[in-house]
Amino acid sequence: MTATEPDFIRDTRAGYDAIAADYAELVRSAPEHDPLGRAMLGTFAEYVRTDGGGPVVEIGSGPGQMTAHLHTLGLDISGIDLSPVMVAMARRTYPELRFEEGSMTGLALPDGALAGLVAWYSIIHIVPERLPDVFAQFHRVLAPGGRLLLAFQVGDEPRHYDEAFGHPVNLDFRRLSPDRVLDLLERAGFRPTARLLREPYETDPTPHALVLARKPLPEPGTQGLSSGSRRARVPRHHASPPLTAPEGGTASAVPPSSAVRSTAPPWHRPLTRRALTDPA
Ligand SMILES: C[S@@+](CC[C@H](N)C(=O)[O-])C[C@H]1O[C@@H](n2cnc3c(N)ncnc32)[C@H](O)[C@@H]1O
Repeated sequence: MTATEPDFIRDTRAGYDAIAADYAELVRSAPEHDPLGRAMLGTFAEYVRTDGGGPVVEIGSGPGQMTAHLHTLGLDISGIDLSPVMVAMARRTYPELRFEEGSMTGLALPDGALAGLVAWYSIIHIVPERLPDVFAQFHRVLAPGGRLLLAFQVGDEPRHYDEAFGHPVNLDFRRLSPDRVLDLLERAGFRPTARLLREPYETDPTPHALVLARKPLPEPGTQGLSSGSRRARVPRHHASPPLTAPEGGTASAVPPSSAVRSTAPPWHRPLTRRALTDPA
């Protein structure tokens, strides 16, 4: 932990450290049970591959199952997460992939390092006043033409948990407005590509949004790009970018795995066996 670290970062890290094993059990088969999510992840992966490929990062990768899913779609992907326990678990579960500790509020990646960046239900832990900075960081680390994919729950009011899976936590899950997110992305320099609004399910009354955006390519005639080029311009020396430096905290032991397994999508299920997203 650093002296200047905001409270919400410290609390989020501590919360996910505490619940990592239970959360991992909850989401282990998430891609399998989320056809709409898979559709957007597949579209994102196809865009990145068609653009010419290059390094991709999932920021807020948690136990790593979405990073691993994107790897199966042919992406050169690694994960970054705030929680050292999550990172340890992801490394243990997917030893063939790279996971590092870091925060989207302080990405230590070089400018233009990435062909793609995914934040899958992780910007929900950013206080609203810091979202413009986070999107500016995403824009900075993407190469021109790079792709961004966001997933988040839709709404106005955050859900607060002071207990999860039987552990005391201080975790806020913020709902966001797709219009506001798209507006902030455009202000940060992105061009929206698509948005998908998943309507409430009977078992999950909270709508979800999946947003795909792109860092524009330079206008023809500027910065030496040919007018026909649609490739993300990833500098060669960034082909395997260093991941972020941890904002603080040290890796700790992975808690024992919970015996509870579910085939239901994780957002149908709770932190305390009640849904993460159920109505207040
Ligand atoms: C709801 S989980 C989603 C994990 C994974 N993407 C998934 O779909 O299962 C949110 C994850 O974001 C991470 N996270 C929260 N704030 C973060 C930050 N500022 N930087 C990086 N990761 C963060 C948490 O540690 C947690 O693992």
